[in-house]
Parts: sequence; structure tokens; C-alpha cells
Amino acid sequence: MTPLGIGIVGTGNIAGGYARDALTHPEIRLVAATDLDPVRLAAFAEAHAIRAHPSLDDLLADDEVDIVVNLTVHHAHYEVTKRALEAGRHVYSEKPLALRTEEARELVDLAVARGLRLGCSPSTFLGEAQQTSAGLIRSGRLGTVRAVYSEVNWGRIETWHPAPAPFFDVGVLVDVGVYPLTLVTTMLGRARSVRAWGWDLMPDRRTIDGTPFRIGSPDLIVAALELDGGAVMRLTASFYVGRPAKLTGSLEFHGDDGSLALGSFQDFDATVEVGAYGESYESVDLVRPGFRGTAWARGVAEMAGAIAEGRPHRASAEQAAHVVEILESAAASMADGGRRIEIDSTFATPPLMPWAQGPR
Ligand SMILES: NC(=O)c1ccc[n+]([C@@H]2O[C@H](COP(=O)([O-])OP(=O)(O)OC[C@H]3O[C@@H](n4cnc5c(N)ncnc54)[C@H](O)[C@@H]3O)[C@@H](O)[C@H]2O)c1
Repeated sequence: MTPLGIGIVGTGNIAGGYARDALTHPEIRLVAATDLDPVRLAAFAEAHAIRAHPSLDDLLADDEVDIVVNLTVHHAHYEVTKRALEAGRHVYSEKPLALRTEEARELVDLAVARGLRLGCSPSTFLGEAQQTSAGLIRSGRLGTVRAVYSEVNWGRIETWHPAPAPFFDVGVLVDVGVYPLTLVTTMLGRARSVRAWGWDLMPDRRTIDGTPFRIGSPDLIVAALELDGGAVMRLTASFYVGRPAKLTGSLEFHGDDGSLALGSFQDFDATVEVGAYGESYESVDLVRPGFRGTAWARGVAEMAGAIAEGRPHRASAEQAAHVVEILESAAASMADGGRRIEIDSTFATPPLMPWAQGPR
């Protein structure tokens, strides 16, 4: 196929990961970028030998940009995605799709109305370890799954990220909780309710250059979700606890017949272990050798392939909007003493990748 042209908006921390990984996918070709910071933009464009556009409007006027990849900060996702869709471009956004359910819904509807594709991260459910886990769970290997435990101990982000403020503004559930929420809803279907509780454990922090700031959201959150099939998910998310915690970003699925432990929701080569009830875990071979770490552009490449083949793409905006509703409802629950809040939206669970299908 002729690769679709990618234009990146937001050439910050994660953009390099996308640019490097894009080279490994024949479905896409990075052609241009823009950023509010001209110095950062110029360095990125030079490093990847692409066009640097001084504004979003200029990037949207570039005929070679078929898909806009929105890698801006959380607060800017809605506006940038909306403008790109209005300009007639397909969009793939970093998570979350938007900060409000209403905005996420509006973007989904706008894409449908314009006949455009809208995809969203996290697409880490496309990783080899995650697809292996999804295949085993969907095949009934664990029996009925009734409990899911997830740990997101993401540590003190200000100790490594040069611009941590937007991450603390939205909080750990919105920034990182989206990974297990997307994985679990991929494997077990939609959530029907959420309750959440939050604490400020270490409110006063310092940036790398020593500037003091106060966190804008709880740095320890415990959430409990009821999924449509009846399973309960307990999610712990923290911007305080991090390494050397034993579990930093992992999931365990517990069913009537057995359990599955996924070592990481993010690393495609994570360990997958399965054990019958009452026995010990044993390692399972992945469906194919796992990519080391995270292949950041796999979701947008899969969407480009889907456009070419005229089939639905897997990292769907409908699922991302469902996750936004969970996040917003969790925030409302936290503000109201952990009240149970019902979730209305739904989505079609994505099929396994072709290389992950077949008997296990
Ligand atoms: N850093 C990571 O490890 C990581 C991993 C996965 C996903 N993400 C997601 O990727 C996104 C970006 O994260 P990051 O760490 O690269 O942040 P960052 O702050 O390093 O970079 C964001 C860039 O977007 C630019 N920007 C902001 N608003 C803009 C606008 N309206 N138009 C054009 N440019 C704009 C900023 O100038 C900045 O260069 C976030 O949504 C985050 O959740 C980050």
C-alpha cells in the first residue's frame, strides 16, 4: 500500500518515540510537524528530516498530511483534534481523547459526520503480551473472570519529566490509569459503574530545576469498577509510590478456573503467567516474539491499514470516549465521598490482531 502521510502536532517528550517507531510501519510515513515552541519544533524536524510548519493551520494545509497525530498536552487534545477533523483530516490522538465526556462524544460524532477516522491511544492492547492475554481470557482459559486487580505505581513524575504540571493537573488516573482501563475494557467489555477515593500524600513538590509547586490532583487514587459481565476491577493509581515498588504497572485477572498475571500494561514483551486456581503461576509463550518496550506508532499504523482496507480500526474513539466517561465519573465520585456513579456509554470491543488469532 501507499503509506499515508503523518503530521505530528506537539513535538515534546513522546514525539521522538512515535517518529522512530513510525519508520518500522509501511502503512505510514512521517512528513511534517508543528509545535507552539519553535525551537523544539525546529530540532525535531531536523532530527527526522521532515517539514516544520509554524502553525496548526499551516500543517492542516499540507496536502501530504493524511492523518494528524495529536501529541499535545492533555488540555489541548480536544481543540487540536476538533480543528484537524474540521479541516478534513483523519486524527489519531494521544490519551485521553478529551477531558470531558461531552467533548469526547462531540469528537466521535464529528468524525462520523465527516466520514473521517478518529483513533486514540492507549493502543498498548495491540502489544504481543497484551494480545496473548486477551486471547487467553477470551478463549475461556480462566473460566468466568470475576475480579481484576491493577497497580499503577507511576512514581514522582517531576523527578524526570521537564514539564510535569499538566500531568499533575489531570492526575494519575487520567494520565496513566487509562492504560489498564483501556486494556480491561478491551478484554472484558464496558464498565457499568465506578466509585473512587483520592488522597494528597505529598502535596508539595519541586520541578527538576528546583521550582516548588503543589500538586493539583490526588497522588493516590483507589477506584472500583463494575464491568458489564459482572467482574469487579480494583485499580490503585499513584504519582507518589513508584520504584522500588514490586508492582508498578501490572494487571491480574482472576477467574473461576484460574488466574492470569500480565507483567506490564505498557511493555509489549511483558511476562504473561497463567495458573489454575490453587496452583502456582507458570509462564506462557507470547503469540509471537514481543516488541521490546512500547511500539508507540502501532495504533496509528493499524488505523492507516484499516483506512486502506476499508475496515474498522482497533484503537477506536468510541472506546476512548467510554474511558473518558469512566475518568470523569471517577472524579465526580471522589468529590462525593466515593458515591457509585453509573456509566452510560458503550463501544464494540476490538478483535484480536490477525497474528494473535487461532487456538491457544
Ligand atoms: N511522556 C511520555 O512518556 C508519554 C507516554 C505516553 C503518552 N504520552 C502522552 O503524550 C502527550 C504528550 O506528552 P509529552 O510527554 O510528549 O508532553 P510534552 O509536554 O513533553 O510535549 C507536548 C508538546 O505539545 C506542545 N503543545 C501543547 N499545546 C499545543 C498546541 N495547542 N499546538 C501545538 N503544540 C502544542 C508543547 O509545546 C509541547 O512541545 C500527553 O497526552 C501524554 O499523555 C506521554
